[in-house]
Amino acid sequence: MNNLFDQLQEQGASPALIGVVRALVAATGDIAQRVRRGALADILGATHSENVQGETQQRLDVIANTLVKDYLLRCPAVALLASEEEAQVVPAHQDGKYLVAFDPLDGSSNIDINAPIGTIFSIYPVRKGIAIESEAQFQQPGRAQVCAGYVLYGPSTLLMITLGRLTQCYTLNPTDEVYRLTADALQIPPAAQEFAINMSNAHFWQTSMQAYVNDLVLGETGPRGKRFNMRWSAAMVGDVHRILIRGGIFLYPSDSRNAQQPAKLRLLYEANPMALLVETAGGKAWTEHQPILDTVAQQLHQRVPVILGAAQEVDACLGYVTE
Ligand code: F6P
Repeated sequence: MNNLFDQLQEQGASPALIGVVRALVAATGDIAQRVRRGALADILGATHSENVQGETQQRLDVIANTLVKDYLLRCPAVALLASEEEAQVVPAHQDGKYLVAFDPLDGSSNIDINAPIGTIFSIYPVRKGIAIESEAQFQQPGRAQVCAGYVLYGPSTLLMITLGRLTQCYTLNPTDEVYRLTADALQIPPAAQEFAINMSNAHFWQTSMQAYVNDLVLGETGPRGKRFNMRWSAAMVGDVHRILIRGGIFLYPSDSRNAQQPAKLRLLYEANPMALLVETAGGKAWTEHQPILDTVAQQLHQRVPVILGAAQEVDACLGYVTE
């Protein structure tokens, strides 16, 4: 009974939803095999193209996008796709029940250095009364997600998944390629000892965020009266995974580096799925103004500030930022 699909069925997932998860598991299994072979699978290095966000695509970004897209397009329960690597939505099946948003390869700068990378996914129900191929299908709050998760390609391959009631972690058994439940009903401790933020952006943050992080860094001698450790893996999957397993707070706040783009992380396929995993595990996930899951996407590749993790620490941070 510790098999992924038995567990999903037990939690009430419909056969159609399980079909979508099967497609994601198959695609990410294929990606995992290539990641394991690394340079031998000819997957390292950059392409000469940029994605819709103006980022140089790594070869594995392109390969992973093709794999996830192809597997999902073959699944009859999928109506429409949105990918970080696709400018527009990709229509699948007219009578499909679900929309899937995904980041095929999160943490691209880690690919060539053999550090953690992942695939993030988010599944929504189709909206009635809206054209099935319309981008507006994705204009739903993150709370409407029926399933969200990520596959982390690290020393072992893990699947973190939630249907909104439990956050569960499965480990891929390489001998039979089956995911087994290895951590059930995860709970993030409310107080944090660790924070994750890209400190090199500090002078571009708003002053309230600078004040919050300064107070963390002051440790026992500052107003927080305790020491905080810092970790940053440069892949959201790696950092959020640590928080789900060990606790802490993850931040990618707004900054003034680029006036056209005050936030970095994308709502549909980064912030929302991570927010559902974190909230289900007893944590909190906010933009600087509201719960991430209450934010309705106005654009496919919309970006939002992200503050997530230990509930008390997110509140402490919001106390500075929303003052
Ligand atoms: O865009 C995704 C991402 O790679 C995240 O996975 C990660 O948290 C962040 O960007 C890394 O940003 P930076 O380049 O500022 O370290």
